[in-house]
Amino acid sequence: MARIGRVVWTILSIFIVQSLVFGFAVLPAFLFWSFIQHWPLTRSQESVIEPAIIAMSLVPAYLVFAVALILLSAWSTRILGWRTADAAAWRLADLEWPLLKWSRYMMSTHMVRVLVGTVFRSSPLWTWYLRLNGARIGKGVYINSLSISDHNMLEFGDGVVIGENVHLSGHTVEGGFVKTGRVRLGRGVTVGLGSMVGIGVDAGAGCQIGALSVVPKHSVLAPGGVYVGVPARRLERDAPGPSAVEVG
Ligand SMILES: CC(C)(COP(=O)(O)OP(=O)(O)OC[C@H]1O[C@@H](n2cnc3c(N)ncnc32)[C@H](O)[C@@H]1OP(=O)(O)O)[C@@H](O)C(=O)NCCC(=O)NCCS
Repeated sequence: MARIGRVVWTILSIFIVQSLVFGFAVLPAFLFWSFIQHWPLTRSQESVIEPAIIAMSLVPAYLVFAVALILLSAWSTRILGWRTADAAAWRLADLEWPLLKWSRYMMSTHMVRVLVGTVFRSSPLWTWYLRLNGARIGKGVYINSLSISDHNMLEFGDGVVIGENVHLSGHTVEGGFVKTGRVRLGRGVTVGLGSMVGIGVDAGAGCQIGALSVVPKHSVLAPGGVYVGVPARRLERDAPGPSAVEVG
């Protein structure tokens, strides 16, 4: 019975918070659009020009909405304390509070991912959102992927590049448990497109992870190394160092 109560409250709180966040994010875009509609210049134009001006105001209105949603969503998760806990192991079937609280953070992130990330991933706006939503990210970082979650568990140094469709998050589900861990990418690390980086990975500065590679959880990658394959192995022609991923 208590479990049902927890689930109902979780769904209800997600619904209430996301309705407020979405509603207040739409508001400035709506006001902007109605201003354009009633603008004397718009109204004084020929019949073909008027709908053209209104239609062209849609993209700026969407931009206003996107910025407002990023700010409000990140602000709401921060003040509500919706974050991923470090080194946790929650049994899915128990649906305990820490797991449900974490699911609210995931849901908030998902809404911004769908409504903003689809258009703006790889742009500075997307990096900015991840930073506001808890990630520690250096300068000149480009993230061309939507499969990046548990932002407060991520630490990226200056110049990190994350390729298209990389999966990198601070959680994994194994054997009925949700497990969490931090992921650190040092300065100048590149993660090749389509790769998967597990929880607890620590990649040294300048290291490159090849396209379509899998870096197992808790791996430590040497600085400057080039790692490829499934599981990722270090290319032997690199500077002296371990010939394979060191599992810490
Ligand atoms: C890993 C990478 C950086 C290596 O580039 P490189 O140093 O020029 O190495 P090479 O292309 O000479 O390849 C060296 C060896 O690694 C192998 N290799 C390269 N990339 C690989 C990959 N992703 N998976 C498996 N093997 C790979 C090559 O087949 C070659 O093997 P061989 O010596 O047996 O012939 C590059 O191949 C790569 O995957 N880049 C990803 C770029 C990317 O996705 N960027 C994201 C933004 S678009």
